[in-house]
Amino acid sequence: MAVTLAVPRETHPGERRVACVPEVVARLSKAGHSVRVESGAGEGSYLTDDAFAQAGAKLVADNVGLYSGAQIVLRVNAPTPEDVARMDPGAIVVGFLGPGRNLPTVRAMRERKITGYALELVPRISRAQSMDALSSQATVGGYVAALLGASECPKFLPMLTTAAGTIRPARVLILGAGVAGLMAIATARRLGAIVEAYDVRRAAGEQVRSLGAKFLELAINAEGAGGYARELTSEEKVQEGSMVSKAVAEADVVITTANVPGRRAPRLVSQQTVALMRPGSVVVDLAAESGGNCELTRPGETVVDHGVKVLGPLNLPSRVPLNASQMYARNLQSFLELLLTKDGQLVSDRSDEILVASCLVQDGEVRHAPTREALGASG
Ligand SMILES: NC(=O)c1ccc[n+]([C@@H]2O[C@H](COP(=O)([O-])OP(=O)(O)OC[C@H]3O[C@@H](n4cnc5c(N)ncnc54)[C@H](O)[C@@H]3O)[C@@H](O)[C@H]2O)c1
Repeated sequence: MAVTLAVPRETHPGERRVACVPEVVARLSKAGHSVRVESGAGEGSYLTDDAFAQAGAKLVADNVGLYSGAQIVLRVNAPTPEDVARMDPGAIVVGFLGPGRNLPTVRAMRERKITGYALELVPRISRAQSMDALSSQATVGGYVAALLGASECPKFLPMLTTAAGTIRPARVLILGAGVAGLMAIATARRLGAIVEAYDVRRAAGEQVRSLGAKFLELAINAEGAGGYARELTSEEKVQEGSMVSKAVAEADVVITTANVPGRRAPRLVSQQTVALMRPGSVVVDLAAESGGNCELTRPGETVVDHGVKVLGPLNLPSRVPLNASQMYARNLQSFLELLLTKDGQLVSDRSDEILVASCLVQDGEVRHAPTREALGASG
């Protein structure tokens, strides 16, 4: 036997994804590993216990006995401190562990000497593309955001020429053209809308145009470290604000996806700007979880102001749970290749750049500096 892996049922409210799918279980089993799956873990993604069992998984009735003897735990969201207490010291947990947050869990992992790899910290280098779970899940989020915008919009998205007259296409504006924004652009274009997009990184312009959308140019290029955006200066924010409010006022659907790593999401759409929109228009704020790009956004709610609907949806990937779980599980499978030797043993040398960058806690020590500081401040 090589290693034993455990896959729990996710307990975060509204979570429908699962960290492993039968296809990945089959590959791991074929390589000699033992995969334990908590009964019902795949239910939210329409993956049955039988499908997991046929792929070679051992089903475990609840998460009490799931962790004992497991060297690697695969998760979507961070475990609770109670989950951590059930794991064997030295076990490894891989998932979206929420670096800088979930401090009671990090404290529990530190005390119990559990190693945690946070997928949010995987560097955006080409070798890590296949394990980039932020990108795979943002792709799902962008797709769902465009569909939500289309379904809430009182107009058709495409142009229609019918016996009842010609319908002009709807205008969709995407603010933030990263992974989610580009998928929202592609989806809105496929639905036939006129699409415009804006990003502070000028490099995004070419990608936006290649999808058949217009790129709104501003004399700012705020490309920061690692291909991410940097925060704008106050002068740049004023320039941005006036261009964005003109474009927002013209749009039927606005999808906002702007984020700056480690910071609150930038405010791009003020209440006054929303008031300029036509009644019936829609704002879908994908940054609701990180503070919102629109001043009116309430996470998990829909706010109506001046007849404009402002949606602040949470966990959009869970709305396409089957494909989101498949993509996530393949990302984890790639990540596991860094942790396992060719003959299926745990690697003893963890100096690989991707492992070092994504390590949140190891050997009773918090390795991620901002999390360490947050813990220091809260004791
Ligand atoms: N492996 C790789 O090489 C790899 C993988 C994924 C992403 N990337 C790159 O990383 C970058 C960002 O990815 P992401 O989607 O995860 O980013 P993200 O979720 O951090 O941010 C989303 C977008 O918001 C934009 N933004 C930030 N502040 C803004 C503002 N004030 N106004 C308008 N837009 C603003 C960012 O530039 C980004 O494009 C992109 O360049 C992407 O191509 C590289």
